Amino acid sequence: MVAVSSRQRARLIQAARRAMKNAYARYSHFRVGAALLTSKGRVFVGCNVENASYGVTNCAERTAIFSAIAQAGPTLDIRAIAVVNDQDAPCSPCGACRQVIYEFGPEAVIFYKSAKGGWKQSRITELLPEGFRLL
Ligand code: THU
Repeated sequence: MVAVSSRQRARLIQAARRAMKNAYARYSHFRVGAALLTSKGRVFVGCNVENASYGVTNCAERTAIFSAIAQAGPTLDIRAIAVVNDQDAPCSPCGACRQVIYEFGPEAVIFYKSAKGGWKQSRITELLPEGFRLL
């Protein structure tokens, strides 16, 4: 696993917390923030953006990834992502987000609150074994 320092982890969590405040969580009232670290050392953030048609809601993780690409281009290489929420609830990325993370960060590390309450760190390949790739 590519090492991510505790300083970088703290920086990501702080950026994710700030982004979480911008969440549009009108229906679930569950605000989520995400921050990703690229291999070039840049940080991009996202929050969840809900919709009256619930299924088209965009999670914080995908917002961060799409925002990174919109701002810096498609050669995104994700080293790490931190995910936070305003209820301190267990919150690992959903299945759709795992696949999107895998696309741009097949070796990415994800920091999230575990069911036990502490911070957990997993590789994307642990969260999404056999992720789909077109070669
Ligand atoms: N959500 C995220 O943004 N990221 C996650 O990892 C889990 C779920 C959002 C989607 C929806 O707006 C709300 O949390 C409740 O599911």
